[in-house]
Amino acid sequence: MGSEYILDTAVVRAFVADIRTAIAAAPSPEAACEAIRPRFAELLADPDWLPAGYQADAPESGMGGGIGQWLLYHAEDGSLSLFSLVVPSGSQTPIHDHLAWGLVGLYRGSQDEEIYAERDDGLELSERRSLERGDFYALLPPRDDIHRVRTTSAETSVSIHLLTNDTGCVWRHAYDAESGEARPFRSGYVNAPCDDG
Ligand SMILES: [Fe+2]
Repeated sequence: MGSEYILDTAVVRAFVADIRTAIAAAPSPEAACEAIRPRFAELLADPDWLPAGYQADAPESGMGGGIGQWLLYHAEDGSLSLFSLVVPSGSQTPIHDHLAWGLVGLYRGSQDEEIYAERDDGLELSERRSLERGDFYALLPPRDDIHRVRTTSAETSVSIHLLTNDTGCVWRHAYDAESGEARPFRSGYVNAPCDDG
């Protein structure tokens, strides 16, 4: 793997250092999410740290619809990643899971999110919520781990993901909206290869 810091700035380094310290000291994922909330809110509220290139549509990405994941940081051991998810106006992601806990929050634009529960006969829509700039939530699988997001603003939406795996490079799942059938899914990153190509 190359450098851990793709966006190598003092702000990102300080953020990651604080987050890693807090996670190491927390007795559980729930406690860790609580502990890192203020620091994550601070990052979402800072208008200056994320260059425009990491907020740009990604027409060539494998996710379709101009949707892209821009990697900012990932730990060498795969235990943490920070990335921006860019979803152009009107586009929506496939229904997908993450397989890791962490925080996800909106940095620009607005999104509708649909959360699904797995049932024996497929997926059931369990919650729908709207997110505006600065809103964020904790993902604590298996609870609320399956969702899709759609941009509702006229401008592209950008959400910041801090998750405890190398989300773009792990094999996870995308789901057929009608049948609920899962298929292997690896999103990749627009700006960084995964180890095995
Ligand atoms: Fe997601």
